[in-house]
Amino acid sequence: MEEVLVLDFGGQYSQLIARRIRECGVFSELLPATTAIEKIRERAPRGLVLSGGPASVYEPGAPPFPTELLELGIPMLGICYGMQAMVQALGGKVEGAESGEFGRAELTLRNAGGRLLGGLPAEQSCWMSHRDTVFEPPPGFAALASTPASPVAAVEAPDRGLYGIQFHPEVVHTPYGTEVLTRFLREIAGCEREWSPQSVIAEQIEAIRAQVGEGRVICGLSGGVDSSVAALLVHRAVEERLTCVFVDHGLLRLNEAAQVVAAFERFGIPLVHVDAEERFLARLAGVDDPERKRKVIGEEFIRVFEEEALKIEEVAYLVQGTLYSDVIESGGSDGSETIKSHHNVGGLPEDLEFELVEPLRMLFKDEVRAVGVELGLPERMVWRQPFPGPGLAIRIVGGEVTRERLDVLRAADAILQEEVRAAELYRQLWQSFCVLPVVRSVGVQGDGRTYAYPIVIRAVTSDDAMTADWARLPYDLLERVSNRIINEIRDVNRVALDISSKPPATIEWE
Ligand code: XMP
Repeated sequence: MEEVLVLDFGGQYSQLIARRIRECGVFSELLPATTAIEKIRERAPRGLVLSGGPASVYEPGAPPFPTELLELGIPMLGICYGMQAMVQALGGKVEGAESGEFGRAELTLRNAGGRLLGGLPAEQSCWMSHRDTVFEPPPGFAALASTPASPVAAVEAPDRGLYGIQFHPEVVHTPYGTEVLTRFLREIAGCEREWSPQSVIAEQIEAIRAQVGEGRVICGLSGGVDSSVAALLVHRAVEERLTCVFVDHGLLRLNEAAQVVAAFERFGIPLVHVDAEERFLARLAGVDDPERKRKVIGEEFIRVFEEEALKIEEVAYLVQGTLYSDVIESGGSDGSETIKSHHNVGGLPEDLEFELVEPLRMLFKDEVRAVGVELGLPERMVWRQPFPGPGLAIRIVGGEVTRERLDVLRAADAILQEEVRAAELYRQLWQSFCVLPVVRSVGVQGDGRTYAYPIVIRAVTSDDAMTADWARLPYDLLERVSNRIINEIRDVNRVALDISSKPPATIEWE
């Protein structure tokens, strides 16, 4: 496969570089900057991109420019630190400047932009984030651009296939960034084919068939996009030898279980729907500590899943909706198959020895959605906001999880979802949901006093859940939601809005 590898020097935007390259239609993966040359030689990428990084090239222990890679003769583009390391290693001049250059900068082309930047506007803006600065290109390199703070903001030695840019082409604030990347990928590295998330489908079907042969496969469905898309892909590959198990713990949103069941029925995928609400509620009785709650739910989940798995004969493979971001997080694309404890199947029974099938391992979330659309997954499931494994149980806080409270919360949550969707805000929000604090307050309704629960609205924007901001929902939307919740749900007499960001708060209340 034609690919361009990004060597990661620890930059904040390294993942983004790989994503942008894929958006340009070329497959790209992130590897640590220390990856052995043999491995890179084996993969024979069309091009290499050296990412930015937090170090200064002068710092003791700063990751060195991988000089040995020059032997491979593969075109190389250094970005930010990647360029500085290249320039310094090859005899140019990199020094700490008085002040750094952060944010938007005006870029002026020199030498008509050379091969890398030629044809782009002579003056353009770009995004910078660096302190060390290149003052002179290495011998044999041409300087291609400068900004007020960076005398040499781009360099190249086309005969050696070496290129460097100080600015970040991967961020949206560099308007010509995609053009620069495309130039490198298509004209310099010579990538010809069009990669797309959809092109993964055929490839993965082959891979799954090769992996499982005539074996039987099981998949734990959560209703989320990852496990659903993974299941659909595997079903395409092995058809009825896949059985999906959907453990309905009774902690889902209104009608969500029915939607999952209906969708999979329509695809004709064998599905075991386990209605385990009673079991989970029984185990949750008297539990209000958040960690204990998660533990109880996780354990029960495993137990139910295991019981079902044992009923299906000779299952040897288990589908996991692991994504590329999980792979990177857990330490690399060729690392061990670690299972995240709250990923899809909520931790697995150890004595069930499955081999994992992970058809989404190479995809980012938005790519998984594209694959889902292509496979015909209903829009509602493709765009579903993230939903925690323990479900509504961790949104009933400060008291026991009971059916009555779940019903109140589910009703409030359904109103919020309906209104958020009607306002066409659903996709813009990372998550939107309701929380039920187990306290009661006084209200007045009709001619009588009430003593009922409050509902808290939580809506956040975020890119990755690591940080989040509270969403500025329009007042009229909030008003509608509040009125409807209080009028339509007997046990609620007050609605509050959570206006905390993460950090210092978290997205969920528990
Ligand atoms: P917090 O609340 O830590 O949440 O800001 C970050 C993201 O993780 C989700 N979350 C969970 N997902 N099991 C899950 O599967 C859990 O126990 C859990 N707790 C939090 C949360 O919804 C958010 O997207």
